[in-house]
Amino acid sequence: MNIVVTGGAGFIGSNFIKYILKKYPDYKILNIDKLTYAGNLDNLKEVENNKNYKFVKMDICEREIEDLITGYDVIINFAAETHVDRAIENPEIFLKTDIFGTFNLLEISRKKKIEKYIQISTDEVYGSIENGSFDETSPLNPSNPYSASKASADLLVLSYFKTYKLPVNIIRSTNNYGPNQYPEKFIPLLITNGIDNKFLPIYGDGLYVREWLYVEDNCRAIDLILHKGEDGEIYNVSSGEERENIYVAKKILEILGKPESLIRFVKDRPGHDRRYSIKFEKLKKLGWEPLFKFEDGLEKTVNWYIENEWWWRKIKEGDFKEYYKKHYQI
Ligand code: NAD
Ligand code: TYD
Repeated sequence: MNIVVTGGAGFIGSNFIKYILKKYPDYKILNIDKLTYAGNLDNLKEVENNKNYKFVKMDICEREIEDLITGYDVIINFAAETHVDRAIENPEIFLKTDIFGTFNLLEISRKKKIEKYIQISTDEVYGSIENGSFDETSPLNPSNPYSASKASADLLVLSYFKTYKLPVNIIRSTNNYGPNQYPEKFIPLLITNGIDNKFLPIYGDGLYVREWLYVEDNCRAIDLILHKGEDGEIYNVSSGEERENIYVAKKILEILGKPESLIRFVKDRPGHDRRYSIKFEKLKKLGWEPLFKFEDGLEKTVNWYIENEWWWRKIKEGDFKEYYKKHYQI
């Protein structure tokens, strides 16, 4: 199988590329990534010389992508602006990349008669739910410019299935965590701050709930949908591993052997979704279940950050420094 992965230099995309190249030695992957602040070729060092892997730096909004993808069967679109806090501060690029970029890839898929287009979406398109869980038929009710852009993209993808019979799938997963996640996101931010004895910023009362999915479990889910997903279908990917943010912070400090006094409650995020929760019965029926308990995946992740300081130290001392100072007002 010849696969185009967009956004493959980011967190989930790079984990997915490494997973696929290892599992299927005869598959070919073309990684197209703009290399924004979140794109990092260090994530792909172990495959950069693999003869089945190729990288091209390009924006998914460029029509010229079309010239690159002759001979490919599948497009999997991971490329997106992904951080809610940045979306609140500067929404425009989210609309460009997450909506227009998706549109561009759909148009190219249609012209090139791609056999499968997979949109990597998010549980955040359903919005917050205090009790119970959403399934794939639940209405979209996004709360911020990131989730609204992702929801818009999902509607476009579905319209290409209905109108043009483009064979598509949409994958909506919960919060991922694991190696190579950019340290603006909650778990890697807390781990790396903890290692450095810096304070762990907790928004609001810390009682917000996320359902945590180890990135390798997500890669297995995407792999299964790639091979067995039914055209036009949406699949939720989740773990049932719901935890309050404050619990996650304490657990990280416990694993690191650091004091809870490092926890600092800070100003809340506007429009902060209280709880995300989704059902994944449909994917279970296809033959998938998560393998990682949260506490086991978290320990593995903390150890990865301890052992791979070379990877995150240059990020935190580079571009990220300015953002951190401004955002957390320190
Ligand atoms: P990330 O921010 O780590 O990586 C995004 C990648 O996309 C980067 O490599 C970046 O350079 C690239 N990119 C951004 N704009 C681009 C453009 N215009 N053209 C080409 N490349 C561009 O993101 P991630 O956490 O790996 O998320 C990947 C996908 O999964 C996203 O679509 C996101 O919405 C979705 N998702 C993420 C999570 C999560 O917890 N991280 C959960 C559910 C869904
Ligand atoms: P995040 O990793 O940004 O993912 P998302 O908002 O897309 O779910 O945040 C996860 C949770 O952690 C969310 O409830 C916001 C919270 N959070 C903090 O409390 N402090 C922080 O510094 C960050 C970045 C997030």
